[in-house]
Amino acid sequence: MKKVIIIGATSGIGKELARLYSLNKYEVGLVGRRSELLEALVSELQTKSYKLTLDIQEAENTINSIEKLIQDMHGVDLIIISAGTGHLNDDLDWSKEKETIDTNVLGFSAIANIAMRYFIKKRAGHLVGISSIASIRGSSIAPAYNASKAFMSNYLEGLRIKTSKKHIPIIITDIQPGLVDTAMAKGDGLFWVAPPKKAAKQIYKAIKNKKKKAYITKRWAIIASLLKIMPDCIYKKL
Ligand SMILES: NC(=O)c1ccc[n+]([C@@H]2O[C@H](COP(=O)([O-])OP(=O)(O)OC[C@H]3O[C@@H](n4cnc5c(N)ncnc54)[C@H](OP(=O)(O)O)[C@@H]3O)[C@@H](O)[C@H]2O)c1
Repeated sequence: MKKVIIIGATSGIGKELARLYSLNKYEVGLVGRRSELLEALVSELQTKSYKLTLDIQEAENTINSIEKLIQDMHGVDLIIISAGTGHLNDDLDWSKEKETIDTNVLGFSAIANIAMRYFIKKRAGHLVGISSIASIRGSSIAPAYNASKAFMSNYLEGLRIKTSKKHIPIIITDIQPGLVDTAMAKGDGLFWVAPPKKAAKQIYKAIKNKKKKAYITKRWAIIASLLKIMPDCIYKKL
């Protein structure tokens, strides 16, 4: 039986991925802060599942706790980092910027670190980060969020090049959703907002196909291409 750890499994994309992996006979390790939601998911899933209540902003504790979860599960094949936060923060409230950096940069890096050290040791494994289309350009209203997602995608690319150069058969997938209908989809004029189930299905398929990068839903690849070539003078007016 294959095994997956999903960080950020209490709601949204991570929760739907947990349901999908369980349906596909995976043992599932569920991680997040809201313990009661983890408990409810454990009792819903058909396959064996483990819960870990954890705030990934505490990096050292995160490394130790994920290491212990891997041991408790007697190893894992796949680690998905879906946990993330972000705020529309026009006033540059420092506590919101800090929370975003502590979660999406510090917490993410801590998990990627323990995951990679574990996978390198066993010379197999698959690491997935749920980044964002926001990684492509800076944002005037959510600067920390977009920058943190740029960090994630860049970091994942670095890890992928490292494993390729060292001929270690570890797969690294960078998932870049556009908009998904969860608490994280904030702001006005939202479009092409995907239901979380649909997003999870496409993410599951991209992971199964060992993709390096996938836009979710697929049509967000068009927006990604436009964002990459758009001149500053147009981008700043959006
Ligand atoms: N929804 C979108 O439109 C969209 C678009 C692009 C990218 N994304 C990315 O997709 C990922 C999943 O978000 P979502 O849309 O599914 O939103 P969500 O429903 O709010 O899920 C966020 C998940 O992250 C977990 N989390 C947040 N802070 C955490 C912390 N400090 N420690 C542990 N877990 C933490 C939450 O669990 P607890 O609160 O229980 O800890 C929750 O399970 C995020 O990385 C987000 O940036 C979303």
